[in-house]
Amino acid sequence: MSGIRAINLGAPASLDNLHVVALPAPGAPGPGEIRVRLRASSLNFHDFAVVTGMIPAPATRIPMSDGAGEVVAVGDGVRDYIVGDAVVSVFFPLWPDGTPPPHAFVNVPGDSIDGYAREEVVAPAAWFTRAPKGFSHAEAATLTCAGLTAWRALFVDGVTKPGSTVLIQGTGGVSIFALQFAKAAGARVIATSSSDEKLERLHAMGADELINYRQTPAWGAKAAELTGGRGVDTVVEIGGAGTLEQSMAAARIGGHIALIGVLAGFAGPVNTGVLMTRNLRVQGLTVGARADQLAMIAGIEANGIKPVIDRHFPLDQLGDAFRHQASGAHFGKIVVDI
Ligand SMILES: NC(=O)c1ccc[n+]([C@@H]2O[C@H](COP(=O)([O-])OP(=O)(O)OC[C@H]3O[C@@H](n4cnc5c(N)ncnc54)[C@H](OP(=O)(O)O)[C@@H]3O)[C@@H](O)[C@H]2O)c1
Repeated sequence: MSGIRAINLGAPASLDNLHVVALPAPGAPGPGEIRVRLRASSLNFHDFAVVTGMIPAPATRIPMSDGAGEVVAVGDGVRDYIVGDAVVSVFFPLWPDGTPPPHAFVNVPGDSIDGYAREEVVAPAAWFTRAPKGFSHAEAATLTCAGLTAWRALFVDGVTKPGSTVLIQGTGGVSIFALQFAKAAGARVIATSSSDEKLERLHAMGADELINYRQTPAWGAKAAELTGGRGVDTVVEIGGAGTLEQSMAAARIGGHIALIGVLAGFAGPVNTGVLMTRNLRVQGLTVGARADQLAMIAGIEANGIKPVIDRHFPLDQLGDAFRHQASGAHFGKIVVDI
């Protein structure tokens, strides 16, 4: 019997317990479904939280929210794809468009349902979109979570346009996409990092102003100073509790803080007086809708944007890929080839 390889979490979930399992190959796709030969996935902090047990999941859970590959069979009634099409998964299969419906966050691949650390899957066609033209599967696999999150922060919740000022924090997947998208939109970007070497790379990618957030703990005031005292229009906030105070100092009156991440803490005190008097808009966000993913793909194609991939790992070295992510040495996205 032909089978497929997949990764299971094991018990307890830990990087040392991630292991390859042999599973039966999925059957023929039913009506409205496609069968996809997955070729790549990419790592996100959310996946790290699943594989290390921070987000509880059963031992047999297949991790990874991001999946890209090619369609190998289509079920009856599928109009959007033909065999051979390159596709990429969506983060929230039950959120097609607009604001999230109440059940939007229930089925999350690699979290509450099986994800894409496997060779093949049969799923509803709407759980995928087309991949950008000219992208490798590895490049496409970076878009599901990090790419769409940055896109939504700037263009769905934010109103980034030529002349806007955007502040990005650090050099992880979301922030590098935000830099690329903001520059494509004609915005000015103030970039922060803990590393001068990484700041040089950000500069080479078009970042206009650079701040080492380790050397300049009051980087919020510094960012505001770099805008002539006005403040930035949008902060791509990936730190959370530990960075929000500085983000508020960086933002202009009426500015937008896209509250995305938790790398500097999950909870903490907030100076509500500053939020109010400076008319700040703090918008929490979780990735985005399928329609936003299609808009992002069109934007990527129109601007010739290519994801920055730090390193590739084979599927059976997923644990090492996460160790590399946890080291913080990376710049952009880490991918696994399947
Ligand atoms: N809400 C959502 O829908 C959503 C979606 C995607 C990601 N996220 C969250 O967003 C965060 C970033 O995700 P990612 O995938 O981009 O992570 P990542 O690739 O692992 O980013 C790691 C980088 O973030 C920077 N960083 C870490 N702590 C920082 C701090 N205190 N201040 C400034 N920069 C800091 C560092 O950059 P340097 O080495 O340059 O200092 C580090 O290398 C995570 O918390 C993740 O869970 C949320």
